[in-house]
Amino acid sequence: MVVVKLLLEITDLAVEVNEKEILSDIDLYIEKGETHVLLGPNGTGKSTLFMSILGFPKYKITRGEILFKGKDITHLSTTERVKMGIGVSFQNPPAIRGVRLKDLLRIEDEKKSVETGEKDLRPELMDITRKMKFDESFIERDVNLGFSGGEVKRSEILQLLAQKPDFTMFDEPDSGVDIENVELIAQEINTLLDKDKKPGLRERSGLLITHLGYILNFVGANTAHVLMDGKIACSGDPTEILEDIRKEGFKGCVECCETH
Ligand SMILES: Nc1ncnc2c1ncn2[C@@H]1O[C@H](COP(=O)(O)OP(=O)(O)O)[C@@H](O)[C@H]1O
Ligand SMILES: [Mg+2]
Repeated sequence: MVVVKLLLEITDLAVEVNEKEILSDIDLYIEKGETHVLLGPNGTGKSTLFMSILGFPKYKITRGEILFKGKDITHLSTTERVKMGIGVSFQNPPAIRGVRLKDLLRIEDEKKSVETGEKDLRPELMDITRKMKFDESFIERDVNLGFSGGEVKRSEILQLLAQKPDFTMFDEPDSGVDIENVELIAQEINTLLDKDKKPGLRERSGLLITHLGYILNFVGANTAHVLMDGKIACSGDPTEILEDIRKEGFKGCVECCETH
């Protein structure tokens, strides 16, 4: 018996931003336990797809549908989608004046804090915080205000580790991050995607967006998709696709598409 384990199903999706069509004919199916990678040059619509899956109102779905855990979420609010188990790490998250990083972490920790009446983070979450190279004084700072590039990305991953979503999207987690921090970030992306478990036992899934592909040296993916001019030009084995892109650049994908 074949058990269908589809977690995210995107069918025939078209998206407009400011009345301009950015994405069209998008079909993307991600199973429970799988990691997919979305590659493509700058300005091709990767972040637009990310925002559309997250449900930002500015990204208007003009055709198609998005199903998550078998439920049609095409017109649900971002809050409802997050409650259903979607988590994100933004490419350029905003700074939030007046909200401490600790406040955000405590939202995830709140159930425990309310039960115990504790004001501090759970010891387990504090351990994860230290693992992400933040200390007690750092998490008192306003979210992303004056953070370095690497600190912003590590903070995004830390919030996800507190949230533990079933499906996580990472938008360019390797951009603007030095090598040492990329390895740290990659290690925790692997945690968030259940890579410590055998493939058949993985529960959590993800979509990793990268135009450099650098993070793929540290995080394995089941399938890669190349987005070109708002359409998925090619899908297949990540190693093979990445090798072609490294040799020929994205222009090789255009040629490959034209011959199919
Ligand atoms: N808020 C916006 N208003 C107008 N155009 C936008 C907006 N966001 C994205 N775009 C356009 O959509 C296209 C795809 O952008 P984006 O999704 O950010 O690409 P990528 O993430 O692949 O670099 C670009 O041409 C960009 O200018
Ligand atoms: Mg982008």
